[in-house]
Amino acid sequence: MSVMRGATVLLVLSMLTRVCFSATSKTASFGTVKNIRSITKMSKFDLPDRLKGNDKSVWVEYIQLALQYKPLNLGQGFPDYYAPENVTNALAAVAKNDNPLLQQYTRGFGHPRLVNVIAKFYSKLINRDLDPNKEVLVTSGAYEALYATLQGHTNPGDEWIIIEPFFDCYEPMVQTAGGIPRYIALKPKSTSGTVTSGDWVFDRKEMESLFNEKTKGIILNTPHNPIGKVFTLDELQFIANLAKKWNVLVVSDEVYEHIVYEPYKHIRIATLPDMYERTITIGSAGKTFSVTGWKIGWAYGPANLLRNLQVIHQNSVYTCSTPIQEAIAIGFELEMERLQQPECYFRSLAMELLPKRDYMAKFLREVGMIPTIPEGGYFMLANWSALENKVRLNEESDENKDYRFTKWMTKNVGLQGIPPTAFYGPEHKTLAEDYVRYCFIKKDENLKAAADLLKKWASK
Ligand SMILES: Cc1ncc(COP(=O)(O)O)c(C=O)c1O
Ligand SMILES: *[C@@H]1O[C@H](CO)[C@@H](O)[C@H](O)[C@H]1NC(C)=O
Ligand SMILES: *[C@@H]1O[C@H](CO)[C@@H](O)[C@H](O)[C@H]1NC(C)=O
Repeated sequence: MSVMRGATVLLVLSMLTRVCFSATSKTASFGTVKNIRSITKMSKFDLPDRLKGNDKSVWVEYIQLALQYKPLNLGQGFPDYYAPENVTNALAAVAKNDNPLLQQYTRGFGHPRLVNVIAKFYSKLINRDLDPNKEVLVTSGAYEALYATLQGHTNPGDEWIIIEPFFDCYEPMVQTAGGIPRYIALKPKSTSGTVTSGDWVFDRKEMESLFNEKTKGIILNTPHNPIGKVFTLDELQFIANLAKKWNVLVVSDEVYEHIVYEPYKHIRIATLPDMYERTITIGSAGKTFSVTGWKIGWAYGPANLLRNLQVIHQNSVYTCSTPIQEAIAIGFELEMERLQQPECYFRSLAMELLPKRDYMAKFLREVGMIPTIPEGGYFMLANWSALENKVRLNEESDENKDYRFTKWMTKNVGLQGIPPTAFYGPEHKTLAEDYVRYCFIKKDENLKAAADLLKKWASK
């Protein structure tokens, strides 16, 4: 209806413009003519200033590239095989459930069955009683939880500390909220031999120097995308102490919380002393249950901090899909009953991924790349610079070498990875130009096909 009304207004406007234009040549006194003309011709529909410079997205570009060249895609982070049956069966059952209300709007801040089980689950994990109605917000993916957090907690000029490389949306989300990103890069202590994600560390002096009166908070991601780093207790304590000293927020993106390889352990920064009151923790059903297309996420934290997120959520998304929330709630309830058992999906997923991780590390090494072995998550960063003489980088025109490498590989070798400079602020992109990010939550046969493609190409 409103689309039609909009179209009609445009039509009338353009007719008016045409009529008035022919009139101007005869009469000079059409005050409104100039206005109408400038409205349709000029920048009325350009990006508003606050969005300028935030129009590029590696995902938009690389999904288009994949559609065009149909490579074997190790780019985006999702499985190319079936999601666990328990959750998909739950969704099928919800669709046919006797209760007709399961197909209708539900509570805006989260479907009751889902917020109840999320609160129960994390109450156990963080050893504190969460109020399902005030300390949990269900969102359209972790993405919206990040967005609501940054929109809801940023005043113009507020500074947010972002650790590079970072999940790319942090930067535009801070900027479009009127905030200023301050970057600090993780750097590998060693770059040859066996490199692990634990080798990638931040400089503590540099971290300390970023905190000041304008700091609103720091965005943390553990387990980390794309490095796979699982932050240590010591690192988290260091960050927590600075956050307390400067009285700032911690946004902890923990979407890969259940994908951690032995012997590493995921530590929730909200559990450190006096940290719950200043931490917003973000999770994702897409990552937790390997159903990224379901796009349900959540934030949990103290009621006064979540209030700001609720205001953004109720004025944008308002409420998420009811049947999908119901199905995820059922999934959580099932897994909570078998938390201690190895079959629990929160344990079995990492077991399932471990051989895939090791297989990928092996074939990347065999072709001459230097992989960073991840402690968590399902991405692997690899230094490809030993193969540079096999790539015709000059056939691509992007500024950063990793973009040229990944595009050339997609078009000429039929294998797609993601250029990690997309995960850096403007100053530090050169740090990542030798790298590519590959995802290994893929069928064994597709990992094998990727290995074959790379080996054939590298041996030419
Ligand atoms: C670190 C990180 N945060 C957030 C998200 C977004 O999660 P969701 O699909 O639930 O919006 C992703 C997805 O790849 C991610 O890697
Ligand atoms: C689904 O959940 C049930 C009940 O906990 C469990 O016994 C079964 O193994 C699960 N199925 C799968 C495929 O994990
Ligand atoms: C990538 O590996 C090469 C050796 O193959 C090394 O010279 C280079 O410094 C590495 N790049 C980075 C950013 O560590």
